[in-house]
Amino acid sequence: MTRLGVTFVATLCFACDARMQLATRTSDLDEQLTIPSDHDLELEIDDALGKKHREDLDRALDAREPGEQLEHAQLSQLALDRQVFTLDDLFRVGDDLFAYQFRPEQGLGNGLAGHVGIEAGPGAAPNLRRVQQNAFGGPDAMSCGDCHAVGGDDGAGTLTQNTYFRGDGDRTLESDVRNAPAVLGLGPIQALATEMSSELASGRAAAIVMATTAGTSVTVPLTAKGLSFGSITALPDGTVDASHVTGVSPDLVVRPFGWKGHQPTLREMIKESFRVHLGIVSLVDQQAVRDGRVSSSLYGDGPWYDVDNDGANIEVEDGMLSTMVAYLSQLEIPIVQPPDDPSLLDRFARGRAVFDQVQCGTCHVRSLTLVDPIVVTHAEQTENTASPTVAIDVARAGMRPKIQAIDLIGSAYGVPLFSDLRRHEMGTELASPVEQIAGGAPIPKTQWLTRPLWGLADTAPYLHDGRAPTISDAVRAHGGEAQASRDAFVALPDDDRSALLVYLLSLARTHKLVAP
Ligand code: HEC
Ligand code: HEC
Repeated sequence: MTRLGVTFVATLCFACDARMQLATRTSDLDEQLTIPSDHDLELEIDDALGKKHREDLDRALDAREPGEQLEHAQLSQLALDRQVFTLDDLFRVGDDLFAYQFRPEQGLGNGLAGHVGIEAGPGAAPNLRRVQQNAFGGPDAMSCGDCHAVGGDDGAGTLTQNTYFRGDGDRTLESDVRNAPAVLGLGPIQALATEMSSELASGRAAAIVMATTAGTSVTVPLTAKGLSFGSITALPDGTVDASHVTGVSPDLVVRPFGWKGHQPTLREMIKESFRVHLGIVSLVDQQAVRDGRVSSSLYGDGPWYDVDNDGANIEVEDGMLSTMVAYLSQLEIPIVQPPDDPSLLDRFARGRAVFDQVQCGTCHVRSLTLVDPIVVTHAEQTENTASPTVAIDVARAGMRPKIQAIDLIGSAYGVPLFSDLRRHEMGTELASPVEQIAGGAPIPKTQWLTRPLWGLADTAPYLHDGRAPTISDAVRAHGGEAQASRDAFVALPDDDRSALLVYLLSLARTHKLVAP
């Protein structure tokens, strides 16, 4: 924006409401100050009071009869099968479940040998430990909300809440340290990943058809959402060589969850989180142990129906997982919130241009276009194969703000996540100590998924292990493929660098009303 433009608008709006003035001045930047209407505010007040009322009631019930609160905070698959619950119901129940403090009798932890002087079995649970043990996990907490609260509910984690994944169960040294990211906007992210995976799979299928028809090897470039994922070579016998595929595992499944990008769906991420953080095993995993589809070492040495030997047979069943998927998918998205202070608005506009100039956007792509906003999740236990699916329209259901249609007919939506959902080489300084496996293949230690930057202002500390207290520290630690961009950031005149930081600090979450 030119200085002339700013003066012109400022003069025109001299007598206008200050907020209108800001909105006008940012109109050619695509970003707008969001000014809620009175009606919206009334709805928010109702929501906040309703939530407070439910929480007070649940706490009172639970104090009188332990376990009562959990009954309110879950829906069984049998209940879901009756199809009488709305997505709104699932949201409320999931909200309670996310905050619920589990107890050993509800499956928290495990009853495996562990504590000195305590025999294995229900009495040993929960067996909490700060450092996780290999892929088995913790448990290291009692509720999801324990680590996802920085910046508000469903937020990020503090440095002291860092998770020590894949350690020896005892020493922090050599464990794979991770800071909890916020869990907002994940519905649209899952929907994007699904579309990207299917675009990549189509590219592979087309290459196979060409190679088998022509009887010769065919190499084709792979793209999804206009972004390059390297190339794939199909051989005449119908097999493929994926050694030149980049940004994604050789199976071409885009996995948008976790700092490395190791889980493809919210359902899988939730199942893993229950298991490794709370020691709460899902029934579908117990059935997989029963049927010999997975090794029980990940879960414990108890009988399949109580594989972690804590006396609780059904810890998480299909209905509870679907409820949690429906809850997380309906949370709001973070937004770009230009500064309130008119004097900072020029800096914001300048920072936005600097973001492009130093090529942050090659990985932190401002917005990806989503065609189908429906996230579908379905029951997996053997007895539930005929259960109806749960479908969530992530452009409409639940908390606002939501992703917006890019045209009047709603043919597609913009998802302003500031990520390309590809993995990148980030240099040895940021390398993880252990390799993580995704889709049967290791993710190189130096590779990380481009972390979405939406909501950044409310998620400090930064980077996968929370080592960076400020945004500036996070950028300075970039290496590998991001080295040139990082160097350009460091070489910026002070004024431009601080303008970029003003811009990045405008990536925030809306703050909800909370009843005291
Ligand atoms: C002990 C802290 C802790 C607890 C408790 C916890 N999480 Fe997390 N969460 C994390 C960390 C750390 C990550 C990043 C994991 C990774 O990189 O693999 C994460 C990542 C996630 C993500 C993926 C977010 C993204 O953008 O990649 C989801 C979804 C999630 N957690 C949901 C849950 C749910 C549901 C629960 C409760 C069952 C839970 N978490 C409990 C620490 C925690
Ligand atoms: C080559 C791709 C790439 C480029 C270019 C890049 N980044 Fe990143 N960025 C990443 C990845 C990958 C991560 C996660 C790294 C980690 O946690 O170890 C990340 C993390 C971040 C974080 C921390 C986010 C959080 O939630 O902790 C910030 C802030 C950030 N980048 C800003 C920038 C800025 C500003 C630029 C431009 C100067 C930039 N990045 C350029 C890939 C890139």
